[in-house]
Amino acid sequence: ASNAKFFVGGNWKCNGSVASVRTLVDELNSGSVPSGVEVVCAPPFIYIDYVMQHLDKDKYQLSAQNCWISGNGAYTGEVSAEQLHDFGVPWVILGHSERRSLCGESNATVAKKTAHALAAGLGVIACVGETLDQRNSGSMFQVLDGQMQALVDEVKDWSKVVIAYEPVWAIGTGVVATPEQAQEVHAYLRQFCQSKLGFGVTDTLRIIYGGSVNDANCKELALMEDIDGFLVGGASLKGSSFVTICNAAG
Ligand code: G3P
Repeated sequence: ASNAKFFVGGNWKCNGSVASVRTLVDELNSGSVPSGVEVVCAPPFIYIDYVMQHLDKDKYQLSAQNCWISGNGAYTGEVSAEQLHDFGVPWVILGHSERRSLCGESNATVAKKTAHALAAGLGVIACVGETLDQRNSGSMFQVLDGQMQALVDEVKDWSKVVIAYEPVWAIGTGVVATPEQAQEVHAYLRQFCQSKLGFGVTDTLRIIYGGSVNDANCKELALMEDIDGFLVGGASLKGSSFVTICNAAG
């Protein structure tokens, strides 16, 4: 990992029930997380209140999995960044590949949401990544450039942005990127940011990896120079696995 503070996010996606969330929170609270690691848990909106009241704040922060592109108003079914901030939620995940592919979020939409959420006072975990077709056809870097350039065009202050590289082919498939595959892209993304934003920004910018991270593969990924943490899906639903991943850099 680089000099940036190690960052681990647990993206619970649309999973859980009142009972399972209670169990998960208890498991997480009983785990130990190094003080030098920043850990964020992202429950579905409906459980945020419970998790906020019961999850150990000394170890874990909260994140939402999405928010609206602008402020409060006539946007049925949405939650605004302002509401998250008002409620005390410090982070939001934006541009996850599931939202890009299932909800039609474009690069421009993700970038505008990111800028809006930052202006509302949130930190943003902004996700990028290529599909298997794009990787195999040689357009991976072009795809990543498009996703990143949209962010560069909209975001002024990068101090509260974490970039999550999630290759779509690795998400929920059990096919984790090799440390070398992940490192290649992370180094590319850091280089991209350096050329557009300068060294000052990229010095502390966290670039985290997501896609089939588990307690068995996290350590070797964490050794890679440009991997500054993880965004974890399935394995974040099991307290002991997630806590192990939080300790991967140790
Ligand atoms: O946001 C994290 C995610 O997309 C990775 O999911 O289940 O492959 O760890 P998973």
